[in-house]
Amino acid sequence: MSTETPDRGSNPLRDPLDRRLPRIAGPSGLIIFGVTGDLSRKKLMPAVYDLANRGLLPPGFALVGFARRSWENEDFAQEVHDAVKEHARTPFREEVWQQLAEGCRFVQGDFDDDTAFETLKSTIEELDKARGTGGNFAFYLSVPPKFFPNVVQQLKKHGLSQGTGDSWRRAVIEKPFGHDLASAQDLNRIVHDVFPPNEVFRIDHYLGKETVQNILALRFANTMYEPIWNRSYVDHVQITMAEDIGIGGRAGYYDGIGAARDVIQNHLLQLLALTAMEEPGSFHPKALTAEKLKVLGAVQLPDDLGKHTVRGQYAHAWQGGEEVLGYLEEDGIDPKSKTDTYAAIKLEINNRRWAGVPFYLRTGKRLGRRVTEIAVIFKRAPYLPFESGATEELGQNALVIRVQPDEGVTVRFGSKVPGTSTEVRDVTMDFAYGESFTESSPEAYERLILDVLLGDANLFPRHQEVELSWTILDPIEAYWDKHGKPAQYASGTWGPAEADEMLARDGRSWRRP
Ligand code: BG6
Repeated sequence: MSTETPDRGSNPLRDPLDRRLPRIAGPSGLIIFGVTGDLSRKKLMPAVYDLANRGLLPPGFALVGFARRSWENEDFAQEVHDAVKEHARTPFREEVWQQLAEGCRFVQGDFDDDTAFETLKSTIEELDKARGTGGNFAFYLSVPPKFFPNVVQQLKKHGLSQGTGDSWRRAVIEKPFGHDLASAQDLNRIVHDVFPPNEVFRIDHYLGKETVQNILALRFANTMYEPIWNRSYVDHVQITMAEDIGIGGRAGYYDGIGAARDVIQNHLLQLLALTAMEEPGSFHPKALTAEKLKVLGAVQLPDDLGKHTVRGQYAHAWQGGEEVLGYLEEDGIDPKSKTDTYAAIKLEINNRRWAGVPFYLRTGKRLGRRVTEIAVIFKRAPYLPFESGATEELGQNALVIRVQPDEGVTVRFGSKVPGTSTEVRDVTMDFAYGESFTESSPEAYERLILDVLLGDANLFPRHQEVELSWTILDPIEAYWDKHGKPAQYASGTWGPAEADEMLARDGRSWRRP
């Protein structure tokens, strides 16, 4: 997907256009702030190991953890070891681990602790000498957003944000990137004051998923979808991201944020952009961003937000044989909280391709099952030359991109039921990754961390995209703030009845994924 130019510090003898060669990061290191957190343990550290195991990291790669905990280097290495053993995708190999462990360092401190940042600086200098990291470092901010400004300003103050000579320094920023347009703009100003825009990598881990990258391959490497990918043939699009889990131990982060800010503002609007955008001239980040910005800029909110948006909160119920608490009963949640754990919205896109085609986006926790999919639902045939009753069982044609799990693509269409009479019923045709490819897909974070080290910005939303997405969501949040409260839905179901009514008013219904 990328047309990367040779990266500073990369091997000049490698031809970046040669697809037979794996892309391997040049000399470099990764510093993780918030290394004791869940994301780091479950995703980041295992992804680093998986990359090392696949031979995609340089032999002298360095991994530095920064956190408040009083750990020695060995304690940190043990922590990485345990996280890798528990969560890595690829098998544990002692020799890979040993090589990685030699490059592990830990720096203890608070984010406003100058001494700790000086220690970080000397640690980096030591790693340059011992591991040959070439001064190339990425700083991964896996910390609550209120600390972002602190950390980037400390990096600047201690001379860490700029490499010398040819070396690079990059900032990797986890979501949420702000909680509305104004806060995202503030954050962008602060970060860009320290790192140039092309060295800032904002994580939307959905873009790291193979199935999401495949949207572009499906649309732009083939000929048969493009002619029907428009308002003449498409009735509507449903983008669903459902989870069966609740908020777990994330009350502190989640309450006051909610499903729409947590998932729609980033993951689902990115899926919408990839589904609806025009073909970019190339897969250069600038060309891709330009098309995504055009389509996000053309998004139109419904006039009546009361009728075309719904939010809900999961309620106590039995889910899959287990009794689960309602959101308001969860630890750390204000029993009067109006935070949404389910959100459904209708959007339209004001351009020639899509005018009048609704895009329904929904996400929720404690729903029927974990599934993310994009369903493009086609119009009914204008005339059916069959006897009455023959097509009663025929639904609408659909193309469903199964993002996860059961990754693949399904096409649904009508087919004659074998027999003497004519009866047409829906059947499906499937592409499943597991059947067509022998290798398993890398985890999103493997791909994204590798891209950061390579300086490939293709799969990272630029600041304008983030800001535009808030422009879309802010009026909805403002409306919800002033009107009513979330509807309750029993855990394990597919959301509040109001969401079904929202689609029924348009003469449609949600798919049961
Ligand atoms: C995160 C959200 O971005 O995505 C979480 O903050 C959510 O609330 C997670 O659980 C889901 O990711 P995935 O990859 O499991 O769909």
